[in-house]
Amino acid sequence: MTKRSIAIVGLGTIGAALASGILKAGLATRETLAGSTAHPETAAEAARRLGIPVTCDNRTLVRGKDIVVLAVKPKTMPKVLSELREVVLPSQLVISVAAATPTRFVEEGLGKPIPVVRAMPNTPCRIGLGMTAICPGRHARPEHLKAARELFSSVGRVAQIEDEELMDAVTALSGSGPAYAYIIVEALAEGGVKMGLPRKLATELAAQAILGGAALVLESGEHPALLKDDVTTPAGVTIDGIMALEEGGLRVALIRAVMAATERGKALSQNPLS
Ligand SMILES: NC(=O)c1ccc[n+]([C@@H]2O[C@H](COP(=O)([O-])OP(=O)(O)OC[C@H]3O[C@@H](n4cnc5c(N)ncnc54)[C@H](OP(=O)(O)O)[C@@H]3O)[C@@H](O)[C@H]2O)c1
Repeated sequence: MTKRSIAIVGLGTIGAALASGILKAGLATRETLAGSTAHPETAAEAARRLGIPVTCDNRTLVRGKDIVVLAVKPKTMPKVLSELREVVLPSQLVISVAAATPTRFVEEGLGKPIPVVRAMPNTPCRIGLGMTAICPGRHARPEHLKAARELFSSVGRVAQIEDEELMDAVTALSGSGPAYAYIIVEALAEGGVKMGLPRKLATELAAQAILGGAALVLESGEHPALLKDDVTTPAGVTIDGIMALEEGGLRVALIRAVMAATERGKALSQNPLS
């Protein structure tokens, strides 16, 4: 990627993770990347931590930047969009990571035919193991999607979604997914503790089992059911564990988790200000 100037509005969990990834991957330099926060204290802290200019003045921040990433909470978006509508130009690319905030809402908030790409990253972006789904707004062209893909590739994997309707399901599965994974890791570790393992070791074993299992799914491309069969020796120990999981309804509970979170996302998308 040719080095571009990038502004990140909102250097919180996701914005700061993206800023670190961009710098590490050399997609921008400490001179061409800048960001903002809401408060002078958090701006000073982010500037110290990331080594980039950080302001509380969004208008000055985005002026003349090639790419503007909006990484504030959904309820802050209307305020930020109204600040930016006078300064953002159609020559700039705007990427929004706000959950349950349709591209149309961003386009209308900016009031011009601005290329907008909606992105849904997740918190493992902090260590380069993120997953980001991107989808185009009305004015986004292939080169804008390419630029967004390059940006989020600096913090993990990227998938492109054509139908924005599916972004609520993506958010429910991938954006929220790490939270489900932490509960699974914590619960498995509790199982180990119950059976006498020290908690630290039990947590390490549980987390690495999930990490390794997931990595094998991605690297082998094999169906998870086949990989599960490799672990499940006839009359062995794993099948007893699987029976307990099925009796406990883990599979249906996880399906329902994604359904419930998708419905919540859809409801919020209908009214992004709620
Ligand atoms: N966290 C996730 O797992 C996740 C995953 C995918 C997508 N997202 C989306 O990412 C966005 C950010 O979430 P987050 O978890 O990173 O939130 P966060 O940690 O609360 O960060 C929000 C950041 O926005 C700043 N901010 C607030 N108002 C601002 C303004 N008017 N101008 C400039 N900066 C402002 C805050 O500054 P102060 O610290 O000074 O208040 C803070 O740095 C949300 O829209 C969320 O839906 C989050």
